[in-house]
Amino acid sequence: MLQQLISAEEIEARTREIAAEIRRDFGDEELVLIAVLKGSFIFVADLCRHLGGDVKVDFVQTSSYGAEKSSSGVVQIRKDLDTNIEGKNVVVVEDIIDTGLTLSHLLQVWQTRKPKAIKVATLLSKPAARTHPMNVDYIGFEIPKKFVVGYGLDHGDRYRNLPFVAELVDEASA
Ligand code: PRP
Repeated sequence: MLQQLISAEEIEARTREIAAEIRRDFGDEELVLIAVLKGSFIFVADLCRHLGGDVKVDFVQTSSYGAEKSSSGVVQIRKDLDTNIEGKNVVVVEDIIDTGLTLSHLLQVWQTRKPKAIKVATLLSKPAARTHPMNVDYIGFEIPKKFVVGYGLDHGDRYRNLPFVAELVDEASA
């Protein structure tokens, strides 16, 4: 059963605000958005259209969750960047930061490639789930430790196409 947590309108408004915050920080400089697939494909599509200016988009794919609701604890990089980020202004775009395992691993790898700046934008953050603390520059919404789907987020690859974010409530435990 789905229980809506964040509406499409709230997501749209907050995404515009985050784009404005990013442009405030970087001015008109070129930006390289790195979207972490698959979950961030919708957020990055909306965010890049609100940013305007000189924006490149690249994608990486990792997986630590598979079809499960909790992380395996191991980050696999299944597709790395095509872009050389040395000297670039990079914004990593995530749909959700949960334990922080995925991003802390990726940031460690990418810092060695000497970007000019590297910041993190996430639509959702679950601070109570964080086991790998990190600085997150742009956060859409902080949410409690619930399993959420929609607006790119899945369970077993389903629900990514929902225009809103919802809690997936187990019928048996509801
Ligand atoms: C999800 C999400 C983040 C990561 C966050 O990806 O998109 O990349 O988990 O969790 P963490 O902070 O605990 O590491 P997932 O591995 O489920 O892949 P998907 O985006 O393709 O669904």
